[in-house]
Amino acid sequence: MLRPLEMAHQFLAEVITKEDVVVDATMGNGHDTAFLAQLAGQVYAFDIQEQALVNTQERLEKLGLQHVRLILDGHQHVDQYVETLKAAIFNLGYLPSADKSVITLPATTIEAMEKICARLEKGGRMAIMIYYGHEGGDIERDAVLDFVSQLPQKDYTATIYRTLNQVNQPPFLVMIEKLESYRHG
Ligand SMILES: C[S@@+](CC[C@H](N)C(=O)[O-])C[C@H]1O[C@@H](n2cnc3c(N)ncnc32)[C@H](O)[C@@H]1O
Repeated sequence: MLRPLEMAHQFLAEVITKEDVVVDATMGNGHDTAFLAQLAGQVYAFDIQEQALVNTQERLEKLGLQHVRLILDGHQHVDQYVETLKAAIFNLGYLPSADKSVITLPATTIEAMEKICARLEKGGRMAIMIYYGHEGGDIERDAVLDFVSQLPQKDYTATIYRTLNQVNQPPFLVMIEKLESYRHG
């Protein structure tokens, strides 16, 4: 069975082509940025920590990956950089190897998700990995679930992928697809 992050990658890989613009909303150490750079034409990756850009740049160079713009800015400003996109990924929470007090926050996460939904091409997809074991993580988790649950059914399909029998608040995945056209049922 796929783990949630593996499922997130598979979900996005199914629709990304070399012509596509995609977004890594939470760059961190650049694992997802590198994954996206292998598939897409152009990646925009965001983080508010300088160290994330340094680590990601190093990873991309080692792998020989290009066509990535690393942006030292919050993902809530995505609209200042990207007009339309085919796919996006969020890994919420903190970067384990860095300052654990720097976490994604409900208001800015939802603002970014709103802007990305509006700019997502039809057939485009967004994957959100939700880590909620840290302080405040449960509030962000609930804000994301609330936002996603209210997306209009005629425009989006939203799905959750989570294990039911694991201890210690395991991360889970929310997947959103912008529909090509309305599907009944
Ligand atoms: C769980 S980590 C991401 C891990 C990353 N995907 C990887 O492959 O290593 C979350 C990241 O989100 C960043 N972050 C927090 N608030 C942010 C914001 N408003 N915009 C962009 N990144 C943010 C943190 O600095 C942290 O690096």
